[in-house]
Amino acid sequence: MSEESIYGKYKDNLELILKNIVGRINDYTDEEYERSGIKLHEHMIARVKSEDSMREKCDRRGLAQTPDSALHELTDSIGIRIICSFIDDVYENVRLIKSFPNLEVVQEKDYIKHAKPNGYRSYHMIIKVQTPFEDVTGNNPGEYFAEIQLRTIAMDSWASLEHKMKYKKNINNSDLIVSELKRCADELAACDVSMQTIRNLILMDN
Ligand code: GTP
Ligand code: MG
Repeated sequence: MSEESIYGKYKDNLELILKNIVGRINDYTDEEYERSGIKLHEHMIARVKSEDSMREKCDRRGLAQTPDSALHELTDSIGIRIICSFIDDVYENVRLIKSFPNLEVVQEKDYIKHAKPNGYRSYHMIIKVQTPFEDVTGNNPGEYFAEIQLRTIAMDSWASLEHKMKYKKNINNSDLIVSELKRCADELAACDVSMQTIRNLILMDN
């Protein structure tokens, strides 16, 4: 017999809510592509946080491993990462997501304008969506949280590399790696700005 999910009886709702948000993002993306030929994202990753990661995060935060912790205390059981070709596309996605009905942004962190000291860049939003489902507090219609991360391809490749290094303990030359990563992040950021400028020049010409 399998252990009960940390998401309790709400587990299936998470998949449905994730699918709904992704569908709405794909809808405006398709419309924009039809209209202007611009692809507002290059790709998108969507997931419900795995049981193991959620249990581990509850432990790390000193929370009991319960549906209430997973769905009410923590806000990233539903996660979407939107990878864009250009910086302006990141902000256009943010603008369009904010315009969705039945959605409220409860937290925003602009690590693009304000990079983390290690060089990490990305735009993070915690959203709260109204759903036709009961939530863990007993409300029906209920509210569920989701985390949306938006970044460019360059920021994304950097974040993957940095993530690998972070979770590798006792790495040799770690000071050198940290400083090289920082240098690389800043170079990539300069490239992102140049790429955006070039695109603007090309669009202006059309
Ligand atoms: P979490 O406990 O991870 O939720 O962190 P937080 O609540 O301080 O939120 P924050 O918005 O800073 O980070 C949330 C998520 O962004 C992380 O789980 C990572 O996926 C990503 N992230 C944040 N900082 C970094 C970083 O320095 N490097 C990489 N690779 N990813 C990061
Ligand atoms: Mg977080």
